[in-house]
Amino acid sequence: MVQLLGHAGVNVKRAISSADELLEKSCSVYLLTSIGFLVMLILRIYLAPQNGRRVGHGTKVPRNINMERLRNGYLFSEICRRELEHTQKYPHAKLIKLGIGDTTEPIPDIITSAMAEHAHALSTIRGYRGYGAEQGNMELRNAIAQTFYRDMGIKANEVFVSDGAQCDISRIQMLLGSNVTVAVQDPSFPAYMDSSVIIGQSGNFKEETGKYENILYMNCGPESNFFPDLSNTPRTDIIFLCSPNNPTGHAASRQQLEQLVEFAKANGSIIIHDSAYAAYITDESPRSIFEIPGGREVAIEISSFSKFAGFTGVRLGWTVVPEELLYSNGFPVIKDYNRIVCTCFNGASSIAQAGGLACLSSDGYLAMNAVLDYYKENAKIIMDTFTSLGLKVHGGKNAPYMWVHFPGLRSWDVFNEILEKTHIITVPGTGFGPGGEGYIRVSAFGQRESVIEASRRLKNLLK
Ligand SMILES: Cc1ncc(COP(=O)(O)O)c(C=O)c1O
Ligand SMILES: *[C@@H]1O[C@H](CO)[C@@H](O)[C@H](O)[C@H]1NC(C)=O
Ligand SMILES: *[C@@H]1O[C@H](CO)[C@@H](O)[C@H](O)[C@H]1NC(C)=O
Repeated sequence: MVQLLGHAGVNVKRAISSADELLEKSCSVYLLTSIGFLVMLILRIYLAPQNGRRVGHGTKVPRNINMERLRNGYLFSEICRRELEHTQKYPHAKLIKLGIGDTTEPIPDIITSAMAEHAHALSTIRGYRGYGAEQGNMELRNAIAQTFYRDMGIKANEVFVSDGAQCDISRIQMLLGSNVTVAVQDPSFPAYMDSSVIIGQSGNFKEETGKYENILYMNCGPESNFFPDLSNTPRTDIIFLCSPNNPTGHAASRQQLEQLVEFAKANGSIIIHDSAYAAYITDESPRSIFEIPGGREVAIEISSFSKFAGFTGVRLGWTVVPEELLYSNGFPVIKDYNRIVCTCFNGASSIAQAGGLACLSSDGYLAMNAVLDYYKENAKIIMDTFTSLGLKVHGGKNAPYMWVHFPGLRSWDVFNEILEKTHIITVPGTGFGPGGEGYIRVSAFGQRESVIEASRRLKNLLK
């Protein structure tokens, strides 16, 4: 029982780190915590001292007010609650999960073999290695610069290898501190605003608006081509931009990014560009902010092997901080970022880095692209399904997410209707901000048979 409780506790802690990860895990967490809660209740009654004092020891440590401000991840626990209710109501239904943003296909053998080989070598005198460079193995930093930033003037020393983009978002927030103003896209991947709240850049959450105070929400709906309308965007110090976007699936066009770089330059702002889904781009959209002239002077880019190589569990990512990027006092941002990485991180796992190098070898790169093609084909099947039903589907072409519009309906009602009638889990758009109302996000991650079956069920429901 104690073990069960402990397990649930660990799961809960891990789960709050990422919304998507949360969605994927929280159902088991929900179950485990429910059981855990019950056990705790029994223990509490059984062990309660006669005077009825609360179990647990109240310290004199005040709770961090920024943590108190955070709205709990109610969306994803709510999805799980409804999923559980649904499986109780329909115990024999085959549930199809197109909600989660987690990869499902196996990692090509050429990549896992490289990691296994590296791991085995650690058992030998000759192959043993301890700490590596905090910034990452130079061979990998070089390979990242060569593979993703060829002709963009990015040097290996500007690439910081990490344990994932999500962790880098938080390290960048630690770098920036609480004294900056930030803008986020609405809708957007929740990590940007949640980490802004945690570091103390925001005010309180307002139920009426569904927004935090002191964070600028840049509407990114179809009326502005899923990009901020910069003609009416006030200046902020920091602008978070995710392209291709989670959840809308929109990849910013060259022209949109040029305007943003120009805007940041005129306003003296820094863009934090998240290109975690760049590998899904199939058209001419830029894969990096550094393809844009002047990008090096105004932007930091974070990226990841997660969705590109199925490394969501292996954990590997990177951040590029160009040398030209300076604070208002002229100090180079890269020097402070290096300090953060050395003090707060200490370097990515050498096994994961060996896997990363294998991904960027010519055979590894081909093998990974075959996996990406599989997801892209899934996306096409889902897009065609909704389109054939007369619905407007955004995304899908340059991202593993479809952003489906149900005009005049509420996201939660659509989510419920689809779950009730087709046993398919999606994500209600409002989970990504008030701008997501009327939409659901459908993921292309999944086994082909499930995607085809989902398509069949949706056509039956919505035709
Ligand atoms: C836009 C975006 N950035 C970052 C991440 C996190 O990536 P990582 O697994 O590298 O931490 C995700 C994960 O879903 C994401 O959607
Ligand atoms: C916060 O920023 C303002 C102006 O941008 C500056 O004057 C002030 O010293 C900063 N405070 C801290 C704690 O950095
Ligand atoms: C920000 O940039 C835009 C576009 O160049 C400009 O219109 C606006 O005045 C700038 N705002 C500030 C405060 O510099």
